[in-house]
Amino acid sequence: MVKVKIQENSTQGKKKLFIKSYGCQMNAYDAVRMADLMAPHGYAVVDNEKGADLVILNTCHIRDKADEKVFSDLGRFKKHGKPDTLYAVGGCIGQAMGKKVMQRSNAVSIVFGPQTYHRLPEFIAKAQVKDENGKFTKVTDTDFPELEKFDSLPTQKADGATAFLSIQEGCDKFCTYCVVPYTRGAEISRTVDAVLKDAENLVSQGVKDITLLGQNVNAYNGLNNNDEASSLAKLIKKLAKIEGLERIRFTTSHPANIDDDLIDLFKTEPKLMPYLHLPVQSGSDKILKAMNRSHTVESYLETIRKVREKCPDIAISGDFIVGFPNETEEDYMDTLKAVAQVNYATSYSFAYSPRPGTPAAVMQNQVDDVTKKERLAGLQALLESQQEAFAKKFIGKTVKVLVTGKGKKQNQLRGHSEHNLVVNFEGGDRLINEIVEVKIEGAYLKSLLGILL
Ligand code: 5AD
Ligand code: SF4
Repeated sequence: MVKVKIQENSTQGKKKLFIKSYGCQMNAYDAVRMADLMAPHGYAVVDNEKGADLVILNTCHIRDKADEKVFSDLGRFKKHGKPDTLYAVGGCIGQAMGKKVMQRSNAVSIVFGPQTYHRLPEFIAKAQVKDENGKFTKVTDTDFPELEKFDSLPTQKADGATAFLSIQEGCDKFCTYCVVPYTRGAEISRTVDAVLKDAENLVSQGVKDITLLGQNVNAYNGLNNNDEASSLAKLIKKLAKIEGLERIRFTTSHPANIDDDLIDLFKTEPKLMPYLHLPVQSGSDKILKAMNRSHTVESYLETIRKVREKCPDIAISGDFIVGFPNETEEDYMDTLKAVAQVNYATSYSFAYSPRPGTPAAVMQNQVDDVTKKERLAGLQALLESQQEAFAKKFIGKTVKVLVTGKGKKQNQLRGHSEHNLVVNFEGGDRLINEIVEVKIEGAYLKSLLGILL
């Protein structure tokens, strides 16, 4: 997953804000917006917790390991804090188990959810009122006023040539394993105008590559100026007209909401990058049904075929869950078979993690941890071999790279190809934020190596 850098400002005379964001790109985007929001209140972002005045943990609740990490981080941050450091827990853990957070860690004064972070300055002011024991006031706010949030956030500050832009939030799909519909609320789409305005603002600050974000981004149905619902395809066509915007991507898509207009764009709209993240989760129709996924293996594969007809070399990315309740060895083998038909360029695969309050958590025949681990290892081995094969196809080819910063080695730059592969090559710093041509000479699991042309 792409990591979002929060712009680090000079901290002189300012209060220090440390934000740690966990989980998905939507959270990474939210963290950037929190930093934008706090800047006018005198907070400058720092890159670690030491000596911070305000520590925000922007949490993820999607799997149990994500929960554990937050609590262990909280303990560590507390050790490095000052007596009057304020700790705030936001994101999906804040939303789903705010009370428990407060009970489990007395350091935490503020709990909020993904839809209330625009009220952070207000929470901080309230929390800073100390009681007779000199303790901060506890503040919790986990409402769902989604559109109010966007209206009250300041204009987004760009950091470099790539940016995320949230166009749709929430989820109405209720996959039986997933907490997102409960933590992020119902699907809502921002208006076409609001999205265009944000995109124009980002481009005016030098952004060339925008990734449109939404939990079900292709279910986007924001209103246009005539109060008609617009599709994602229509929105992308409008965005593509913005001069200076060179690259458009979108994530995450649901297989049930991919329409032909969107698929066509992969051929007709040169600014739409050849990259599609389309989770399938399982290759067994029985499991997909139990997951309430509203698509079949065949309908998914048919979509992939259609997309490849329009854009043969497209990079396909997927999400997978192994060890869902009742998953047999045969179901698992069906997942491997489906994967073998797709040839993924990248992927995210997980062992099923029962989430409190979701229907799958109380289903009979939960799969034991050892089996889950074995299945995950088998699936990941196959996916990694596909990923490597995809990267190797670029050896000897010239790719266009948007340079995002320095590489790990001296004189090395790093950027992203149109297919969203990381590319390292030697070059001078003046190329940062430019699109350059690089001839690929080496391919690894997670990156390409090339020479600047
Ligand atoms: N257990 C394991 N993986 C999960 N995901 C969502 N919920 C769970 C869960 N309970 C995975 C899905 C989803 C991705 C964001 O996280 O694959 O697409
Ligand atoms: Fe979760 Fe399913 Fe919604 Fe994705 S589509 S956020 S997996 S409920």
